[in-house]
Amino acid sequence: MKYGYFDDDRREYVITTPATPLPWINYLGNDGFYGLISNTAGGYDFYRDAKLRRITRFRYNNVPNDIGGRMYYIKDGGCTWSPSFLPAGTELDSYECRHGMGYTVFTGKKNGVNAKLTAFVPLGDACELNRLEITNDSSETKELTIYSCIEWCLWNAVDDANNYQRNLSIGELEVVGSTIYHKTEFRERRDHYAFFTVNADVNGFDTDRDVFLGARRAWDDPIQIENGTSGNTVASGWYPIASHQLKLTLAPGEKKSYVFQLGYVEVPRDRKFESKGVINKAPALALIGKYNTDARVEAAFKALAEYWSDLLGIYHLESGSDKLNRMVNIWHQYQCMVTFNMSRSASYWETGTGRGMGFRDSCQDLLGFMHLVPDRARARIIDIASIQFENGSTYHQYQPLTKRGNADIGGGFNDDPLWLVACTAAYIRETGDATILEHPTPFNNVEGSEKPLMEHLRRSINFIVNNKGPHGLPLIGRADWNDCLNLNCFSEEPGESFQTFGPSEGPVAESVFIAGMFVKYGLEYADLCEHFGSKDEADSVRNEVGKIKKATEEYGWDGEWFLRAYDAYSHKVGSNECEEGKIFIEPQGFCTMAGIGQEKGYGRKALDSVKKWLVNDYGVEILAPCYTTYHVELGEISSYPPGYKENGAIFTHNNPWVSVAATVIGDAEMAFDIYRRSCPAFLEDVSEIHRTEPYVYSQMIAGREAVHYGEAKNSFLTGTAAWAFVDISQAILGVQPTLDGLSVKPCVPAELGDYSVTRRYRGSLYNIRVTREAGRSGLTVNGAPVEGSVIPVPAAGSRVDVVCYI
Ligand code: GLC
Ligand code: GLC
Repeated sequence: MKYGYFDDDRREYVITTPATPLPWINYLGNDGFYGLISNTAGGYDFYRDAKLRRITRFRYNNVPNDIGGRMYYIKDGGCTWSPSFLPAGTELDSYECRHGMGYTVFTGKKNGVNAKLTAFVPLGDACELNRLEITNDSSETKELTIYSCIEWCLWNAVDDANNYQRNLSIGELEVVGSTIYHKTEFRERRDHYAFFTVNADVNGFDTDRDVFLGARRAWDDPIQIENGTSGNTVASGWYPIASHQLKLTLAPGEKKSYVFQLGYVEVPRDRKFESKGVINKAPALALIGKYNTDARVEAAFKALAEYWSDLLGIYHLESGSDKLNRMVNIWHQYQCMVTFNMSRSASYWETGTGRGMGFRDSCQDLLGFMHLVPDRARARIIDIASIQFENGSTYHQYQPLTKRGNADIGGGFNDDPLWLVACTAAYIRETGDATILEHPTPFNNVEGSEKPLMEHLRRSINFIVNNKGPHGLPLIGRADWNDCLNLNCFSEEPGESFQTFGPSEGPVAESVFIAGMFVKYGLEYADLCEHFGSKDEADSVRNEVGKIKKATEEYGWDGEWFLRAYDAYSHKVGSNECEEGKIFIEPQGFCTMAGIGQEKGYGRKALDSVKKWLVNDYGVEILAPCYTTYHVELGEISSYPPGYKENGAIFTHNNPWVSVAATVIGDAEMAFDIYRRSCPAFLEDVSEIHRTEPYVYSQMIAGREAVHYGEAKNSFLTGTAAWAFVDISQAILGVQPTLDGLSVKPCVPAELGDYSVTRRYRGSLYNIRVTREAGRSGLTVNGAPVEGSVIPVPAAGSRVDVVCYI
């Protein structure tokens, strides 16, 4: 069952009912000012950091679970309704929500009135615009009253939801004309405030929530709206909001348009006030002036559309499959932008108050983002590397506002350092810009500790070499990619963090997964050395890779598949000898990608075992059989009920590893089959089972042993976004950046037919046609055959015609 449809020409998903199984959301904003917006206009806005600069309030665990956000009411006689259905909740005559690239448009109709609400964040400015267009489609004159409303968050979202003894006394506002300024804490240490305005004279306003709503009322039924009044309140403490009241008369066929703007500004510390206690409004007025007419808003909306057209033109596929085209050309890349911006901080599942930017998460997000805005990718790599410690290990997370490592969680996740090698190598393959390796980059943000980025990568590699266990395999530390495989934790009490409790960095527990990573990324590092550094170093790293490869073949192979790990007692994890958790997906994907045991056919066997044990209707499960009891020596993984999360769900992030691995052993059918199973557009028809958005990946889909098999959770912020795009665009469709230029080497099943890809790469435009012709193989570049699969980089600005015969 579907709850909408894809409109590919407009790059939108069109939701046709507010009653989706869960709120289906979108993100507004590309750089700095962000909004989450659901298909009933719920959500919240923040500036840079969803914890420290939360602008509007949102209640997780609320009922309904996405009430709030952008609240617009239209009062038409005795009937009050919202263009986005909520908050009024009045049945609409028609409803539509279009989630597009950085914008969402609602169209609601009721009793002959048509209301269109367009929400977006204009490029380069810290504000959200809500354009409300109201048309009278009836044959009578309409006397309408519009109410807007947003609820302010008192900046720090954690304090806002905790510290009521303080909060309920600190709220402060100013109201000037149609603009409501939220200035809580500005009189003391803050140098920023927010405002909510509309480009029309208002008939009234409210900033005191209790006066607006009335006693014991909720957002669907404010007393002021019932009475057709406004309190004209300026709140002091309690619950500050911003609501406008606008009265209008519309003749039949007449239309009126309003622009609401929610803005954030920072003020120089020495110019905070225009007079005692009165905030300096100059920066707000400048921002308001930029978007206070329909024409200005239309121009900004057009600029946003052009921005996305340009970005999505960098990799464009034309194939016979609509589903594949829309994922590759639109939604994969869009989700990669969102994960780049958010890491795992703010979604409808991540509160924005816990994890900031994850080290491994952000490094992997970059893998799918590199081609879109390489300058931002470069800056991000430096930010990430700056939280690395001198010994090569790293903080696990950092706060986006301060860019400092998060001491609560610390380090000790032994896969982390290698992801830095992965994303830096990918950046250079994309851009050819090896100067990044020379960039002076501090350790742990300590001034004076700067070393070229290359030295950071070297220490990442050495960290693994210097931290091996009894079998010569890498020590796992607190956890590797699988945060829940906590082999050094031994927690017996509820509430202890599996990630930080216990001896945590024991000298015995080893990870076969990190071994696979080391072989893959050690070789990528060696290539960097060879191209941009020293041949000797390349040789010595390859030698270290050889040792771990050998150790993995000897001690990391279980007979039919790769082992997952050795625990703190040196017992096998993920072995046929185990009763539960016999086989794990991660090493099958990574060790096969790394080519470990290739000559012995390990990859083929491992992937056959994956098919036998782990593949289900919606993807590949993370392990089987699921743990049914708690294993203190394994940690959080065994804490989840069978079939959920890391205990046997399809943890979608690692599905592309299996798919890429299949391309490495040349199994095109399996590669595409695995890609397709968990791909959201391919699951659209079972949205009532899948439940999350059909246009983006969710972190997990419950596995066969779960009570709710097939149900997805944690949509949007997942490493799957980047890896799925890498998988389909580079490994399967085969258009892959290398240090020496673009390589074209497809691994596609015949069912996909011929296709073409346009790719902008290092300043040139490649038109690539992939075609099957009996008896022909290889590449032609501008008509001439070339050896191998790599196209030598032409002068920037070239047009390159490539035909690839398969
Ligand atoms: C979450 C984390 C990620 C981790 C994964 C597996 O998605 O953000 O860092 O690798 O879970 O545990
Ligand atoms: C929990 C989640 C896991 C996530 C981790 C982050 O363990 O199950 O997916 O990676 O928290 O710390």
